[in-house]
Amino acid sequence: MPGSVRVVGLGGSLRAGSTSRTALQTALDGAQAANAEPSLIWVRDLDLPMYTPERAVPAGARELADTVHGSDALIWSTPTYHGSVSGSFKNALDWLILLAERDPPYLTNKPVGLVATAGGVQGLQAVNSMEFVVRALRGWSVPLVQPVAQSWQTFDPDGRLADDMTGAQLRDLGAEVVRAARQFQAHGTCDYADAAQFGSAVGD
Ligand SMILES: Cc1cc2nc3c(=O)[nH]c(=O)nc-3n(C[C@H](O)[C@H](O)[C@H](O)COP(=O)(O)O)c2cc1C
Repeated sequence: MPGSVRVVGLGGSLRAGSTSRTALQTALDGAQAANAEPSLIWVRDLDLPMYTPERAVPAGARELADTVHGSDALIWSTPTYHGSVSGSFKNALDWLILLAERDPPYLTNKPVGLVATAGGVQGLQAVNSMEFVVRALRGWSVPLVQPVAQSWQTFDPDGRLADDMTGAQLRDLGAEVVRAARQFQAHGTCDYADAAQFGSAVGD
């Protein structure tokens, strides 16, 4: 019987009808369907001040760091802003400097699934921007990523998902992150050579 996998989703924008938040929730639904324990941290709820080294650490930032540290895997989802991640999302990531002195530090051995929504025809720029951060924090981004282009078509004005195929792809990403986390739990690595053993089609 596989152990529990805690998947923490982080992202969304400050908009009430945030499409990147809906995309994140959908990916977490896929993680839950793969028997993980999902939780969602919406940057709008965090209401974090801009990271400043000299200031007292706000309770929300410490809670964010603790929750991320206690996770087995992460899913990040940002809106595409000017070809990259949004400022509020990046600010939340900047507060993860609080994980520098943890054991293990930062995101060591945590797989991270990457999702972005974009108004234009692709969202890969923001996904690629997040991948730089994953590497800087010693995490492992899973090869399957989910940029959701033309979000104004894929979501309704209230931010609800309006496209079944995108929903299925996001849930697949959630399941893939769980698979990678189980492989880390079993082997301490994330080698795609035996990925199928852990429930993935990616390594086939
Ligand atoms: C400040 C700003 C910059 C944006 N820059 C881009 C961009 O460079 N490329 C793009 O495809 N969409 C861009 N968009 C559109 C958003 O990526 C898109 O509306 C996205 O779905 C918003 O996510 P949200 O619903 O979670 O707020 C931008 C939107 C804003 C507000």
